[in-house]
Amino acid sequence: MTEKRLLVTAALPYANGPVHIGHLAGCYLPADIYTRYQRAQKRDVQFVCGSDEHGVPITIRAMKEGVTPQEVVDKYHVLIKDSLAQMGVSCDIFARTSSSVHRATAQDFFTKLYEKGIFEETESEQYFDPEKKVFLADRYIVGTCPVCSNPGAYGDQCERCGSSLSPEMLLQPKSALSDAIPEKRKTKHWYFPLNKYEDWLREWIVEGKKDQWKSNVYGQCKSWIDAGLQPRAMTRDSNWGVPVPLKDAEGKVLYVWFDAPIGYISATKELTPHWADYWQKEDTKLVHFIGKDNIVFHCIIFPAMLKAHGGFVLPEAVPANEFLNIEGEKVSTSRNWAVWVHEYLQDFPGEADLLRYVLCANAPETKDNDFTWKDFQTRVNSELNSNFGNFVNRAMVMMHKLCKGRVPMYHAARRDDTDQALVAAIQEAKQKIQDSIETYHFRDALAEIMALSTKGNKYLQDKAPWLLAKKLEEDPSVQELIDNCVQLCLQLSANLAIFIAPFLPDTAKKMCHMMKVVDRMLFWENAGKMDLLRPNYQLREPELLFRKIEDVEIAAQVEKLHAASREKASASSTNAAPAASLAAPSAPPKAEISFDDFAKIDLKIGTIQAAEKVAKADKLLQLKVDMGNGEVRTIVSGIAQHFSPEEIIGKQVTVVANLAPRKMKGIESAGMILMSEDSEGKLVFVAPGTAVAPGAEVR
Ligand code: 2FM
Ligand code: ZN
Repeated sequence: MTEKRLLVTAALPYANGPVHIGHLAGCYLPADIYTRYQRAQKRDVQFVCGSDEHGVPITIRAMKEGVTPQEVVDKYHVLIKDSLAQMGVSCDIFARTSSSVHRATAQDFFTKLYEKGIFEETESEQYFDPEKKVFLADRYIVGTCPVCSNPGAYGDQCERCGSSLSPEMLLQPKSALSDAIPEKRKTKHWYFPLNKYEDWLREWIVEGKKDQWKSNVYGQCKSWIDAGLQPRAMTRDSNWGVPVPLKDAEGKVLYVWFDAPIGYISATKELTPHWADYWQKEDTKLVHFIGKDNIVFHCIIFPAMLKAHGGFVLPEAVPANEFLNIEGEKVSTSRNWAVWVHEYLQDFPGEADLLRYVLCANAPETKDNDFTWKDFQTRVNSELNSNFGNFVNRAMVMMHKLCKGRVPMYHAARRDDTDQALVAAIQEAKQKIQDSIETYHFRDALAEIMALSTKGNKYLQDKAPWLLAKKLEEDPSVQELIDNCVQLCLQLSANLAIFIAPFLPDTAKKMCHMMKVVDRMLFWENAGKMDLLRPNYQLREPELLFRKIEDVEIAAQVEKLHAASREKASASSTNAAPAASLAAPSAPPKAEISFDDFAKIDLKIGTIQAAEKVAKADKLLQLKVDMGNGEVRTIVSGIAQHFSPEEIIGKQVTVVANLAPRKMKGIESAGMILMSEDSEGKLVFVAPGTAVAPGAEVR
C-alpha cells in the first residue's frame, strides 16, 4: 500500500489577542511534533494554520480597545505568527482569513451549497441591542447558563461546562456591548440543516470512529448526536466578516464557524498549486489538531459542510487535547491569568525547547492538566539537565578525555550482555516512540525518549570508564572496553538526537553541531542504527544542551502572573482589593444590586427526594425536591456529569424558589439549585452547614 499524503491543520487562533501556553499545549505543539516526525519519515505532509480574523471576539476586542477590527487583526496576526515561529511551530503556511483567497474560497463554498439547495432560509426573531442598534448573536450576548448556572455564559457556548448554547437558552440575557436588556426583532438567515446529516454522522462517527478517535472526542460527538442535531444559522447580521454572496443579503456575513474551517482549504490554496490533491484525493489523511472546545465544529459541523458540498476528504483523526490550567486555576484572558507565549520568549530568549519539553511532558492529552512554574523548573533541572543533557554531555566528555576526541571503534570481540541490552533498548525505543507518535500519544513518546536516556546514564554508570582508565597502565587492553562504552554512548546520543528532534528541534540541531553531522542524519530511517558516527571521526567540544533554572527566575514568573492578574482586577473594579482578587474564583465580580433586588429572590432549602437521568441529555438530572409543607418540586439541573443520581438523594440544597419555570428537554423545571466550585473545579452544593427543615428560608 502506498503511503497516504498528509494534511495537518492546527486550529486557527482568533486574532483578538496573543496566544498563551494553553494554546501551545492544546494544539500547536502536538501538530508540530506530529508534522516534524512525518517530515523525518520523508512523507508528503503539509501543515497549515493561520489566524481566524472574523467573528465576534475580534469586534469585541476592537470595541474595547477603541480601534477598528482591521487594526486588531493586523496587530495580533503578526504577534501570533511570530510567537508560533519562535516556538518552533513549523507550519508550512500561516495564512489569514481576511485574505482575498480566503474570501473567494468561503464565498464559493457557500454559493455551491446555496445552489444545491442545501440551506433553509428562515426569518426569525432574534435578540437586538436597542442602544447599539445591532443584532446580538453568539458572544455579543451574555447571560446565565441554563445547565451550570455560570453567570458569564455566552450566546453560543458556556465556557465553564462546555455546553453549546443559543442566545434563547441564556437566562437573564444582556448585551455584551452595552449591558442593555435585549429586544426581539425579525431578521432573515440561511440555516444549514445539520439534522438532515444526523444519520450519516451517526454512521460515520458513532459506528465508524469508536475505536479510532480519542475517547474524549468520540464521547463528545456521540452525546451531541444522541441529543439530536438542529439546523444552524450560517450567516450573521454584521459588517465584519466574509459578505454573504447573495443579492438580498446586505449587512450579512458568513458565520465565523462557517468561514474559519474553510480557512484550512484557502490556506492550502495559498500554499501550493497542488492544494486540491490534499483536499480532494482519497489517499489523503486529514488530521485536525484542536482544543476540546472546538470538537463539535471540527467533527460534526465542518464534516457535514464538506459532505454537503461533496468532493472533499473528511478528517481521519481529530486528536483534541483538554485544557491546561495555570497554577491551579483555569486560564482566563479576562482576568489575565495566563502565561503569554510572547512574554515567555522575552524572558527566556532562545529557550523555546524548555517550554516545549514541559508542555509536552505534561500535555493535557486525556484530562485537564496544571502548569506550574515550580514544575517547569523541576522538569528542566532534573529531567532535561540531570538526565538527557547530562548523558549527552558525559558521553562527549568521556570521548574527549579517554578517546582523544575521536569516535572510538567498537571491538566486537569484547561485546558483553550490558552492551547488547543497550542496543536492544534503542531498537525497542524506536518502535515505541513511532507507535506513540502515530497514535497521537506524544507524552508517552517523550517519556520513552527520557527512559532511554536514563538507560544511557545507567549504562555509563555501570561501565564506569573513568575507573577502567585507572587500570590502563597495568592492562592496556582495557582501552578496548573504554572504547566500546564510549562508542555505544555516542551512537546512543546520535539516536537520541533523531528521537528528540520532533519535540526539541533546537536541541537536536545543537547535538548535530557538536557531533559534526548534517541535519540529514535526523531522518527517521537512521534511527536504531549503531553506525551513525564513524570511528576516528573527530567531534567538537561538548557544550551544555540546557541550563538550570534558578529559584529567583521562578519566583519572578509567579509574581508576574499574580501582578498581571491583580492589575487587571483593579482596572476593572476600583473596589476590589488585590488580595481578594487573587483568591477570587474565575467569575468576575458582578454589578452591585439594591437590597430590594436581593429581596426579590426567594431562596429556600430543599431536600432531594429522588433523582434520575434525563433521556438524551448527558448533563441533566431530573430531581424531585422536597420544599417543605408537602410541596415537592421538579427541578432539572445540569449536574449529571458531576453526580450520580444515587449519591445525591437525601442531600440538602439551596433552591431559587421563585425563578420562572423553564422547559428543558420537555420537562418543566420549577426553580434552580445553587452550586459552587471547590478549588479543584468540582461542583459542590450550596447547602446549610447543619440539617434544617425543608422549606427553611435562606436570608
Ligand atoms: O477557538 C478558536 O480559537 C477558533 N478561532 C478556532 C478556529 S479553528 C478553525 F476552524 F478555523
Ligand atoms: Zn454552563
